[in-house]
Amino acid sequence: MKMSPALLIVGALMVFWASTFIIVGLPAMTMKETPSAIWRPMAEDEREGHRLYVQNGCSYCHSLFIRINDWDIGAERIAESGDYVAQEPAILGSERTGPDLSQEGGEHPDDWHKAHFINPRFTSPISVMPSWEFLGEEKIRKLTAYVQALGWKQADVRVARQQHWKKSAVVAYEAGADANITWLHSQVPAVWRPMPNPYPATQAALLRGKRIYQEFCVNCHGPIGDGKGPAAAWVYPPPLNFTTLRRHLEANRYIGGIFYYQIMNGITGTGMPYFKKHLESEKIWDLANYLAVSFLGYTDANIEPRGIDASYEEDWRNPYHPPAKGGD
Ligand code: HEC
Ligand code: HEC
Repeated sequence: MKMSPALLIVGALMVFWASTFIIVGLPAMTMKETPSAIWRPMAEDEREGHRLYVQNGCSYCHSLFIRINDWDIGAERIAESGDYVAQEPAILGSERTGPDLSQEGGEHPDDWHKAHFINPRFTSPISVMPSWEFLGEEKIRKLTAYVQALGWKQADVRVARQQHWKKSAVVAYEAGADANITWLHSQVPAVWRPMPNPYPATQAALLRGKRIYQEFCVNCHGPIGDGKGPAAAWVYPPPLNFTTLRRHLEANRYIGGIFYYQIMNGITGTGMPYFKKHLESEKIWDLANYLAVSFLGYTDANIEPRGIDASYEEDWRNPYHPPAKGGD
């Protein structure tokens, strides 16, 4: 066949329409408009927050789409097309400089998000997320409403849980330091409370703990553990002042298990996040020893009852081994 200008145009149009059909037509025909089991419509504030999310390029760093191969990074639910009904645009995102946000709703209370949007370093000291303070109070509130809705009906359950526990946390905090510690520790299951830290507080363990503290905790709890980090102005109840725990130790020998449990699970309703997805077990025990030694001047590291022989590190160098009390 002889190549003529007319044939070239017809050919080009055929290629154009074929690819348009595959990229646009086929997905539109096969896309389900039936909402998934967790879907719900967005409220007005959430919709405006969604617009801010699109306008500000949050999707350059965050995905809103959990795939089957994400189970190993702690996925909670695989995304379905019915989760995206009536979202214009449905912005899945392909980059994950930050975490996937499709189940973000209720992971933290609102005050944590406010602190984090104003300056991500307040809550996550080594974060590369930019500050959104320039958006102003009202837009940050809408953005927060949107991220708290992500996960739809599942998120609503988590948000309700945060709000429920926040009331008790605030009452306890306002009742004074001792009442607050009593309440905080009543949240820890009984089996964890009389549990010493099974890891020895070696110099290496404490230096590891310090490093992790600086990367995750310092801007809330402060460099000297008094709860006066820069985030304190934004979260309520404010970050715990660890020195208020000294009175707990006058009556109790054990703090390791309590620290471990609270760091692992966080304290729902307060700004205190859970770290079970960020830190391995050994790092949490190291942190528990670091908090105890640095801010309380005491650690129950490796005392009786020894539940497990947890560490290959030798204990004989441990300068912080507490004096033996009966049975130790
Ligand atoms: C340059 C990349 C980048 C951009 C742009 C960005 N983020 Fe992030 N984001 C991160 C990183 C990294 C983290 C993890 C560390 C942290 O908590 O700050 C994060 C964490 C988050 C979290 C907390 C997740 C959790 O529960 O720990 C939320 C919510 C969030 N981002 C929302 C947003 C929103 C909304 C926008 C747009 C206004 C945005 N991000 C823009 C990088 C980014
Ligand atoms: C966004 C701020 C924030 C960050 C980040 C944070 N905390 Fe907290 N932390 C809190 C708040 C708020 C409380 C509870 C205060 C209250 O209810 O009085 C708390 C309480 C605690 C408790 C409870 C102590 C007890 O005896 O019950 C421990 C332990 C703790 N934090 C350790 C840590 C460690 C370790 C890190 C870093 C890995 C960390 N926190 C990061 C805000 C934070």
